[in-house]
Amino acid sequence: MQAMSEQPSKRHPLALRVLHWGLAFLLAVQLMLGFAAEHWTTRTTSDALLSVHFRLGVLILGLMLVRLTLRLALPMSEEYMPRWRRYAKSAVHGLLYLLILALPVSGHVIWVWMGADRTLCAGIQVPALFVPPDDETGRAVAWYVHVYGAWMLLGLVLLHVVVAWFQSLREKHFISRKMGFGKRGRSDC
Ligand code: HEM
Ligand code: HEM
Repeated sequence: MQAMSEQPSKRHPLALRVLHWGLAFLLAVQLMLGFAAEHWTTRTTSDALLSVHFRLGVLILGLMLVRLTLRLALPMSEEYMPRWRRYAKSAVHGLLYLLILALPVSGHVIWVWMGADRTLCAGIQVPALFVPPDDETGRAVAWYVHVYGAWMLLGLVLLHVVVAWFQSLREKHFISRKMGFGKRGRSDC
């Protein structure tokens, strides 16, 4: 049941909804590729999985930059909620953005340090942007950010899904109202 004090929530802009679900799918595939590549026992399969992981990571970074730009540029509807909830929601969403940007960047640092092939497709290369020094501290830092960042992302996404599910128990059609595409859950229907 919807609380009396809460206004009907409005949908996120279409481009952000498309990017939300598209990136949720790509990130699920990317996490599976990363873990599979790390734990596969055959070297050639593991290398092939990592090579797809690299390309998909670059695509995710590009889409995330578009998403961030749109998120900052497009007007978002404000709805009433207690201040603690607003802060908690902003913190979780902000951290999700930060992690999804930090993962490709740290992955790139490891990739360049490995001296791996940076060809995306049709001979297009991702620039290295730095020359790895002899001291490998930077590589170790990037590795920690990448591996623990991936686990943090997984944990935060689970929390995000549980909260969205709980909210949809309190407020009927909450998920479709905020992030859906059809008529169901639209506040003007
Ligand atoms: C990898 C998976 C996911 C990521 C990284 C993710 C990330 C985000 C982010 C950053 C936002 C804030 C809006 C924005 O800036 O675009 C958001 C909103 C939202 N997400 Fe997700 N999401 C994921 C999966 C899901 C799933 C599976 C559900 C449904 C169970 C869901 C339901 C929602 C809803 C309902 C909102 C709107 C919340 C509101 O405005 O109050 N998300 N998501
Ligand atoms: C959002 C994008 C990304 C996500 C979610 C992600 C996730 C992961 C995960 C889950 C692992 C396995 C971690 C483990 O050992 O348990 C991994 C490993 C790895 N990823 Fe990514 N990754 C992303 C982007 C990238 C990019 C763009 C590159 C390369 C440019 C990259 C390069 C690597 C490498 C080289 C490893 C193996 C690290 C090692 O030596 O242990 N990743 N990634």
